[in-house]
Amino acid sequence: MTINESTTKKPKKPKKQLTTARDIALEAVIRIERDGAYANLLLQQMLSNSPLEARDRGFVTELVYGSTRMSRACDYLADRFIADPPPVEAKAALRLGVYQLVFLGTPPHAAVNDTVEATPHKFRGLVNAVLRKVIDAPVTYPTDAIALSYPDWLFDLFIEQFGDDQGRALMAAMNEPAEVTERDDGYRQDRSSQMVAALVTGDLVADICAAPGGKSTFIAGAEGGGAVVAASDRRLSRARLVSQNSDRLDLDNVFSVVADGRQLPYRPGSFDTVLVDAPCTGLGALRRRADARWRIGEEDAARLSTLQVELVLAAQDLVKDGGEIIYSVCTITDAESIDVGAKLAELAPNLEPIDDFPEGWERYGVGARLLPDATNDGMAVIRYRKVGSA
Ligand SMILES: C[S@@+](CC[C@H](N)C(=O)[O-])C[C@H]1O[C@@H](n2cnc3c(N)ncnc32)[C@H](O)[C@@H]1O
Repeated sequence: MTINESTTKKPKKPKKQLTTARDIALEAVIRIERDGAYANLLLQQMLSNSPLEARDRGFVTELVYGSTRMSRACDYLADRFIADPPPVEAKAALRLGVYQLVFLGTPPHAAVNDTVEATPHKFRGLVNAVLRKVIDAPVTYPTDAIALSYPDWLFDLFIEQFGDDQGRALMAAMNEPAEVTERDDGYRQDRSSQMVAALVTGDLVADICAAPGGKSTFIAGAEGGGAVVAASDRRLSRARLVSQNSDRLDLDNVFSVVADGRQLPYRPGSFDTVLVDAPCTGLGALRRRADARWRIGEEDAARLSTLQVELVLAAQDLVKDGGEIIYSVCTITDAESIDVGAKLAELAPNLEPIDDFPEGWERYGVGARLLPDATNDGMAVIRYRKVGSA
C-alpha cells in the first residue's frame, strides 16, 4: 500500500455493539431484508456469538421469526404513514415495532421506546413518529392475504385447495411459533416428522435424502433395535450433519453417504425399505421457516415435483421385491403430493400404493397427509410396495 492510499483512507466507523435483544433482532431483520440472509442460519450464528441469557435469546427468536412471518402485515400497517419507501434500517425497525405492538401485545411505551433506542440515530425521529401513529390507528387491512401475511399467489393456492375456512385456518396456524419437540434420545424433531419416520419398517433401510439425519436417526434408534440405515444426501456438508448427529446419539448403525439420490452406488434390489424424504417447497412447515413464504415462487413446486418423481423412480431399483418405498414431503399442496402420485402411477406400474396408515393420518389420494395445526407441521406421504421387477 502506498503512503497516499493509507493516509486518504477514511477511519473505519466503530461497529455498534449489539448488546440488547432488540439490537440483535434489528440487525438480523436488516440482514434478512437487505442481504437475503436465511433467518434460521443467521440467527443461529448471531445468537451463538452473543452474551444474551436464554430468556432473551427466546425473545430475539420470537421477534425475528415472528416479524419475518408477519412482515407483509407489519409493513402495510407502517407504510400507511410513510410517503416514500424508507431505508432498510428504518423499515426493519418499524417492522419490529409494529410486530410488538400488534402481534405480541407489548405495552406501547415499551415497544416504541425500546425499538427507537435500538434504531440508528438518524432514523429515530421517523420510527418514533410512525409507531405512535400506528398505536392510534385502527388495525385493518385491504386484503386477507395482507392480514394473514402471505404472498397473493400462495394465499390463493391455499384457499383454492382447502376452501375458505380450512385454508385460512392452516395459514393462521403457520403464523404461530413452532413448538420444539424433543425425542426420548434428546434429538429435536417435530412430531409430524416423527410420524413419517415411524412408517418406515425393515432391517435394511436406505434414506436417500437424509440430511440432517432426523429420520435416519429415528429409524436407527427405534426401541428394540433399529434398522441399519444407509443415509445419503447429495451435499457433502449436509451428509456431514448426518454423521455428526448419529455420532452424538451414539448410533453405530447409520452409514452416511454422499450421493445424488438418482445415482446411488448400491446393488439393485438390496433394501427392505427406501425412504424418499424429498426436497420440497416446505409449504406445510412455514412456521418453522419464517422466511420461506417470501422465497418460494409459484413455479418451484413444478420444478421440485419433477425431481421428486425421479427420486422415487430411482428408489424403485434399490428396493427388493415386496419391499416398501415411503415418499414424503413437508408440504400439503397437490403438486407435490397427489400429482406426484398420479405421475408415478403412469411411470412405475410395479409400485403399488399401500392403503395402510396409523391413526392421526388423513387419507389423501393414494397416500395420506397431516395438515398443519397448532402443534403439527403439514406433511404428505405415499407408501408403496414394489411388486415384481420394474
Ligand atoms: C427434506 S430434506 C431431508 C430431511 C431429512 N430426511 C431429515 O429428516 O432430517 C431434503 C434433503 O434432500 C437433499 N437433496 C436435494 N436434492 C437431492 C438429490 N438429488 N439427491 C439426494 N439428496 C438431495 C437436500 O440436501 C436435503 O438435505
